[in-house]
Amino acid sequence: MFEEGYSKPFLRLPAVQAMLMQFLSLALVLGLMFGLFAFWGVKVPLLAAVLLQAIAAAGLSFWRRLAPWWLAMQMVFLPGLVAGAMLHLPSSIYLLAFLFLLLLYWSTFRTQVPFYPSGAAVWAAVAAQLPTARPIRFVDVGSGFGGMILHLARLRPESEFVGIELAPLPWLASRVLGRLTRSRGCFLRDDYQHLDFGEYDMVFAYLSPAAMPALWRKARAEMRAGSILFSYEFAIREAESQIANISEVNGRNLYRWNM
Ligand SMILES: C[S@@+](CC[C@H](N)C(=O)[O-])C[C@H]1O[C@@H](n2cnc3c(N)ncnc32)[C@H](O)[C@@H]1O
Repeated sequence: MFEEGYSKPFLRLPAVQAMLMQFLSLALVLGLMFGLFAFWGVKVPLLAAVLLQAIAAAGLSFWRRLAPWWLAMQMVFLPGLVAGAMLHLPSSIYLLAFLFLLLLYWSTFRTQVPFYPSGAAVWAAVAAQLPTARPIRFVDVGSGFGGMILHLARLRPESEFVGIELAPLPWLASRVLGRLTRSRGCFLRDDYQHLDFGEYDMVFAYLSPAAMPALWRKARAEMRAGSILFSYEFAIREAESQIANISEVNGRNLYRWNM
């Protein structure tokens, strides 16, 4: 179910599969409506056609073994569109909503890592694990709105804290917040795959199950002996036996690997 976004062919990405299932189910329902009308003169009511399409899209997605949240999204997609059309909302609303979601999620369809924040309790748990005897270089890969980096940079002004984020809106917000609060934290807009992990003493990630194998490969190839990798919530299947520490924060695990 959680395959790696980076190594998947475009047509096998879950978002692309979901879109294809929407088109396929729409074509099936339109074909059925056309057949019923052409051969028996039966007109299918709009509501029934929309519900049928929603069920078909979810059923096909289940068959393609998409994750459960996709099934829910597949069910509400066309009914939501039709309901929106019935409300006669100005078309600019759709454009604005699309632009907002695009800037917030950017290439989630490829990385399979959407934005959701970790929060202050996780920042504090990570802060408690930073060595105090020397300055460190720390990076949050997929830094979102930058909360972790701003917090740590405030606590440890002698150390270097970097956030790297792909999506433009969270990255811009973190840059602006950093400027406004005169933070020493630094924010890059890029794919963390372009970063050299060997330059950091600590790498923190709050990504998704799909992203973990690629993260682990990169960490193993580049991180120096003695450096530390953290992952909040998501373990790395290949590296479970090498976990050095697990603490629980907000009911989820914070994993630590000593490289
Ligand atoms: C779950 S959020 C975590 C945000 C933040 N680290 C926190 O703890 O609140 C994951 C973030 O990683 C970003 N992301 C996903 N893949 C990325 C990549 N390859 N390079 C940089 N950022 C990425 C997403 O855009 C998203 O904002």
